[in-house]
Amino acid sequence: EKVVLAYSGGLDTTAIIPWLKENYDYEVICCCVDCGQEEELDGLEERAKLSGASKLYIEDIVDDFCDNYIVPCVKASAVYENKYLLGTSMARPGIAKKLVEIARKEGAVAICHGATGKGNDQIRFELGIKALAPDLKIIAPWRDDKWELQSRQDEIDYCKAHGIDLPFSADSSYSRDRNLWHISHEGLELEDPSVAPNYDHLLVLGNSPEKAPEEGEYVTMTFEAGVPTSLNGKKMKVSDIIRELNVLGGKHGIGIIDIVENRVVGMKSRGVYETPGGTILMEAHDQLEELILDRATMEVKKEMGNKLAQIVYEGKWFTPLREAVCAFIDVTQKYVTGEVKFKLYKGNIIKAGTTSKYSLYSESLASFTTGDLYDHHDAEGFITLFGLPLKVRAMKMQEVENN
Ligand code: ARG
Ligand code: SIN
Repeated sequence: EKVVLAYSGGLDTTAIIPWLKENYDYEVICCCVDCGQEEELDGLEERAKLSGASKLYIEDIVDDFCDNYIVPCVKASAVYENKYLLGTSMARPGIAKKLVEIARKEGAVAICHGATGKGNDQIRFELGIKALAPDLKIIAPWRDDKWELQSRQDEIDYCKAHGIDLPFSADSSYSRDRNLWHISHEGLELEDPSVAPNYDHLLVLGNSPEKAPEEGEYVTMTFEAGVPTSLNGKKMKVSDIIRELNVLGGKHGIGIIDIVENRVVGMKSRGVYETPGGTILMEAHDQLEELILDRATMEVKKEMGNKLAQIVYEGKWFTPLREAVCAFIDVTQKYVTGEVKFKLYKGNIIKAGTTSKYSLYSESLASFTTGDLYDHHDAEGFITLFGLPLKVRAMKMQEVENN
């Protein structure tokens, strides 16, 4: 029987290969799903095979990730706990989907992942797999009684004992997860929220604002129905836009956040996330949307966006609720078309002009002169009615106090 292992090429998932063969007697099919982690994928096949896997799939889902997971979240301005742009969370369902696809192709009976028993990722992988393939068995070694490896050194020793001698280092770095949208950092000094992150050591995608250039840089983007379509005058697919925004944002120290977040499993955890391009894209989209959405739609959309953030964080991508929320969001995006200009400067995104043929902004209406559409006198009656309940209440209070 076969198992499909979500394989990254790192020490954890490499040690899982001999462990699966030893404890489950499965044939191990490794599957490395590329969401834009920019890791050295060369040599991965050799490493997987050397470790005892019978096959390695390297599956590029970057465009699927961008078009079908990132874009819906950008349209919704989905942000978890006011800060986290969901980089890891959004990628997990796409990975789960690909793992299921490979499992079907191989006729495998199980899927195995290397997420720990204390985190969110186990939930996301497993809800994804359950939703798409309820018959497949799920193996999570880190939660398995038969898994006895507690440290990197244990894993290295275990690999060596199984004839796998690879140049892994025993000292641990941050726990990181990278894809096209972001890189997350957890662990080491970050585990103590009273300690400032060691940014010189930690940052991977760009500069801190302090080290960003003294000179700002202008960027122009266009959107059609909420989807980014061009950058600095060049039409590009979404993945290329994000890639280029990552370079620009990284250079100018954009999108570094330090958060103590609430995990689904109950604990708080501290992380630093770099989302340079994503932060710009979200902000640019919101800048355009301001011109286009009416107040009431904006209000409900904000709630739906928060709802989507929670759904994605909790790994409930393949659910009717997620589909319904996205359908609502799509309706709101129909006219989010136009051009946005802004300046990147030392961690800031500074507006430099927004235009849309669907803009609801009316200069004559907003300016201080009286026009046909708006008569200052109308406001008087409006305020009388609008303020009626609070006036009635204040009168009542006065009456009671004076008696
Ligand atoms: N805390 C973030 C989240 O739950 C990041 C998780 C990073 N995952 C990882 N395997 N390093 O989405
Ligand atoms: C893990 O525990 O595997 C990574 C962190 C998380 O999933 O939240």
